[in-house]
Amino acid sequence: MMWRSPGDDEFKRLVQTFPKEKSWTASNFYFYQGFWCPSIVLRAVISFQKHFQACDSDIIVSTFPKCGTTWLKALTFSTLYRNQFAWDENPLLTFGPHQPVRFLECDIYLNNPFPDLQNVCVYQPRLLSTHLPYASLPTSIKDSNSKIVFICRNPLDMFISLWSFLYKLGDESLEPLSVDEAFDKFYHGIYAYGPFFDHVLGYWKASQENPNKILFLKYEDLKEDINSHLKNLAIFLGVPFTDDEKKQGVVEEIAKICSFENLKEVEVNKKGVHISGIPHTGFFRKGKVGDWSNYLTPFMVERLEKLIQEKMDSSGLSFNLSSKTSKDITSA
Ligand code: A3P
Repeated sequence: MMWRSPGDDEFKRLVQTFPKEKSWTASNFYFYQGFWCPSIVLRAVISFQKHFQACDSDIIVSTFPKCGTTWLKALTFSTLYRNQFAWDENPLLTFGPHQPVRFLECDIYLNNPFPDLQNVCVYQPRLLSTHLPYASLPTSIKDSNSKIVFICRNPLDMFISLWSFLYKLGDESLEPLSVDEAFDKFYHGIYAYGPFFDHVLGYWKASQENPNKILFLKYEDLKEDINSHLKNLAIFLGVPFTDDEKKQGVVEEIAKICSFENLKEVEVNKKGVHISGIPHTGFFRKGKVGDWSNYLTPFMVERLEKLIQEKMDSSGLSFNLSSKTSKDITSA
């Protein structure tokens, strides 16, 4: 049941002032603080912004949807808490990656503006997650010593991942959006938490200014060399792998447990359902770089490449669009 409070009328009045667009499914988006917020989470976003008090030790996994949230949650959880459970008792393998690292606005605050975070976070330090843009994070996250691990992905793959996800999970009473219809919305930045470029560049700039606070990751880089990125992640989290751990292959073990191939086959991810009602299988599709080439027409690709150039030109940020790694390119 949705949260009701004396502020309902005020909330309704406020919402009416926001630009509105139809989402890719049955609901709407509201343009709130510069991003398209799914109507279903808007109220929770505001509660999260108003009431969340970050602790200095908090770790926030922040992501753009369909850019590797599930993977990053698994990696961060397994790295941070690796000494708090036995290998074969990793809670990921029982609950799936979204239950042990819960979303703030689309889960914890969804039905309760004052959740008991002590009960939500079983392990310490607290590990929580969000899709909110940097500018919209609660001030206490930005002002405290809490840390943010962010991941994004090349927008072509992100688009296809999102379209496939919604297509598969769509309301059966509705005709799903064709890739052409979805492309039009995508091109104009109209999708949950979009536009992508504003979101990603917000975190990119903040991470450049404060690299000790924000670790900026790209899905393609993790695909290319997971072990190095895991070691950096552990250093960033303040729990570097010891020489003994490295010798014992702990880094490789975490990479293996969290790999697409492994997690996809875990029982809970094959049969379980996320608290939002989404079957866990929805979070595991192909897990590849460059799958967009199986869907997008040359015209779409050209338009997106121009858009990427226009939006990111002077930012210093770029994306790998193909599955070819830098090693493949040098040896070709
Ligand atoms: P594809 O749809 O391209 O396969 P999110 O977790 O943010 O929703 O992102 C989902 C994307 O990450 C999907 O991409 C999914 O298959 C991929 N993914 C899920 N778990 C993964 C893992 N452990 N390793 C790599 N990719 C993963």
